[in-house]
Amino acid sequence: MTNKKIEINYSEYESVKHMEENDFQCVNSAEDNLKNAYAPYSKFKVSSLVQLDNGIKVLGTNQENMAYPSGLCAERVAIFSAKSQYPDNKVEQVFIVTEQGNETPFSPCGACRQVIMEYEMNQKSPIQIILKSGNSKIWKFNSMKDLLPFAFEAEEILKKD
Ligand code: THU
Repeated sequence: MTNKKIEINYSEYESVKHMEENDFQCVNSAEDNLKNAYAPYSKFKVSSLVQLDNGIKVLGTNQENMAYPSGLCAERVAIFSAKSQYPDNKVEQVFIVTEQGNETPFSPCGACRQVIMEYEMNQKSPIQIILKSGNSKIWKFNSMKDLLPFAFEAEEILKKD
């Protein structure tokens, strides 16, 4: 038996003021968009901004439903919308912000990680994930691989089309 270890890397910013101009603007736009979340059941508002390689930014918010499982997370709303409108453009970044939060940001659910991961595998270039929750610090991951090590990588299935 061998014990193994993996390491992940991410950057922490004390505030948006320390980020590059475009990142700063994207976090602000995503936060402005929190008002559009439809979260009457959880009261947990989430907003996401997808930055594409053509410069276009696509927003999304969590959308809940009284039949609970029918709702969808903000980042999936945003990335599905982006890839529906711009299927041939690469996703460069996914910003995910929440209204509530302190010290450290909330990080995305497993299903969203898997969805973003598949686009990252398809486009063969990393997707940065930027997280901020309320007054929290900002975390930036350079690839979904850092948030989803040992992802289900169905390369064989993807190759079939
Ligand atoms: N939610 C997101 O929008 N993104 C996540 O990554 C985790 C959770 C939403 C789903 C639901 O509307 C609310 O947050 C509470 O779970």
